[in-house]
Amino acid sequence: MRTPILAGNWKMYKTVAEAKSLVSESKDDLLAVSGVDKVFCPPFLAVPAVAELVAGTALGVGAQDMYWEDEGAYTGEVSPLMAKEFCQYVIIGHSERREYFGETDADVNKKIKAALRHGLTPIVCVGESLEIRQAGDTERWVTEQVRGAVADLTGEQVAGLVFAYEPIWAIGTGLAATPQDAEHVCGSVVRATVREMYGAQVAEAVRIQYGGSIKPGNALDLMSQPNVDGGLVGGASLQAADFVAIVRHTAEAKGTA
Ligand code: 13P
Repeated sequence: MRTPILAGNWKMYKTVAEAKSLVSESKDDLLAVSGVDKVFCPPFLAVPAVAELVAGTALGVGAQDMYWEDEGAYTGEVSPLMAKEFCQYVIIGHSERREYFGETDADVNKKIKAALRHGLTPIVCVGESLEIRQAGDTERWVTEQVRGAVADLTGEQVAGLVFAYEPIWAIGTGLAATPQDAEHVCGSVVRATVREMYGAQVAEAVRIQYGGSIKPGNALDLMSQPNVDGGLVGGASLQAADFVAIVRHTAEAKGTA
């Protein structure tokens, strides 16, 4: 039985003061929902404040990215050593990083290895563009991204990963994937690729989120899919009530409420 995991990716939103209010507003309600892992992923400057507010609770903190070297002359970067002072998770290979900052599958693989070396749980994002989808190439594209991400990893390492299937056309558009599409790619592409590479036990253990325009209104249907083990939530995670509602719907869908 996989524990569902809901992560709020705040992207480049929230000052430290705003971050503190968002966490304070939602913390108790989130903690009241059992059987679901809940993670805040604030911008770096707000990470220490959020970590302090959730210290000693079951709420987790994630970075939205990090570099793969432990330290060095890399102006502007944050290392896994620095992230792990405050975070248990790190989002790796978000499509916005791939699109605007040129991240490749090879970079993603290096970052995953760096995260694992330091005991951080990677949330590894994969997903196709609208063009790729319209060309009927989604399966091949996502399979390649998964294969590239896990290159040289052991089965034990892969079992501990979280994948996030985020179709780019669904991010920030209000147009979520249908529950059937989410289930198909999470189950028959991402999990199936892990199964082919590492066997059934690893495939059954790995957690796979869906992400892209998750809202309180569609969360129950999306999270009811057997191969969808939670969500990576963007816009709706910026509103305390919406994120709490999505977490509650997930618990209801998975029968942990
Ligand atoms: P939205 O929920 O705003 O579509 O963003 C999804 C996302 O990119 C989360 O990482």
